[in-house]
Amino acid sequence: MIKKPLILGIETSCDETAASIITESEKGAPLILSNVISSQVDVHKDFGGVVPELAARSHIEKIDIIVKRAIYESGKKFDEIDAIASTAGPGLVVCLSVGLSFGKALALTLSKPFIAVNHLEGHALSPKLNLKIDYPYLLLLISGGHSQFLNVRGLGSYKRLGTTIDDALGEAFDKTAKLLGLNFPGGPKIEILAEKGNPDKYILPKPIFNKGGCNLSFAGLKTAILKITKEIQTEKEKCDLAASFQKTINEILRKKTKIAFSEFEKQNKLKEKIFVVAGGVAANKNIRSMLVKLCEKEGYTSIFPPIELCGDNAAMIGLVGLEKFKKKQFDKLDYPAKPRWPLDKDAAFLKGAGVKL
Ligand code: KG4
Ligand code: ZN
Repeated sequence: MIKKPLILGIETSCDETAASIITESEKGAPLILSNVISSQVDVHKDFGGVVPELAARSHIEKIDIIVKRAIYESGKKFDEIDAIASTAGPGLVVCLSVGLSFGKALALTLSKPFIAVNHLEGHALSPKLNLKIDYPYLLLLISGGHSQFLNVRGLGSYKRLGTTIDDALGEAFDKTAKLLGLNFPGGPKIEILAEKGNPDKYILPKPIFNKGGCNLSFAGLKTAILKITKEIQTEKEKCDLAASFQKTINEILRKKTKIAFSEFEKQNKLKEKIFVVAGGVAANKNIRSMLVKLCEKEGYTSIFPPIELCGDNAAMIGLVGLEKFKKKQFDKLDYPAKPRWPLDKDAAFLKGAGVKL
């Protein structure tokens, strides 16, 4: 029997310190043997967002314990690992450097190959961790750091259909929550408030709603919400604002997803139309049910990976490592941390003032 590769995945690009051991089943499906995630919610909760220096310090404090635990929980030993895969970007450089250096040092010590992984590639392949899905599929990634529509055609082959030109969607939720006096991460708290509110109470802007294809923009919402929060006095009004915000997001996502569907269909010959939604914001039930309904209407199969594989984790990094290992795509130990590392190299940079859509 041929030994199946055993890969250690390491993730420290933002505010999760994570490690995972992953291998393959006899049939060649990915098999997660352990998936350890330590979140830094408590470290950042009073700051309204991730504080890079605090995040990096926390990664340094925890990385060795998290990696040891991932190995222990997998029932394997250090010397059985065949390769080490660490996230090298995109993300906060001070955070990336922790997992990257740790992975390289381990690879050097164990004399095993090192694989640098693009965090977005991890998200893009993550639905394959627990489901057999054929390429191509359309991915909507909505997290605290990213908001993108991607045509996922295979390992290393991605076409970006749309991206945010300013804030990520999770960031928009967190900033709105902060204006409403809620702790970070505010997304789940907004969802709870919204359940008790009137979604039609406040009319909020929908930036680039009628232009820019399936590109997204959320920064204008924050400005409008800031104005309204200055006049808000009651708890009921807070709930109304949360509900109105969530309704506006739903309207934006619905319209932009429909555009992404048609662009995806133009680019591929499809046997089955598959739409995967990943990232922390995919946990939002309101957004989920809107997207599920839209998929039913448009003939798409909708897939929402389980939340522990949807948000940041190291199993998805291990999976990319596993795929690259099979193709012998190894990296040198001087591989740099890359704060910006687009999956689609040909896609235009769409951030900042003066962006042309
Ligand atoms: O993917 P994730 O766990 O980490 C990264 O950002 O990479 O996503 C976290 C983001 C945060 O901005 C958080 O507020 C948002 O996902 N989020 C939600 C919900 N749960 C998490 N946003 C809206 N509704 C939710 N239920
Ligand atoms: Zn992420």
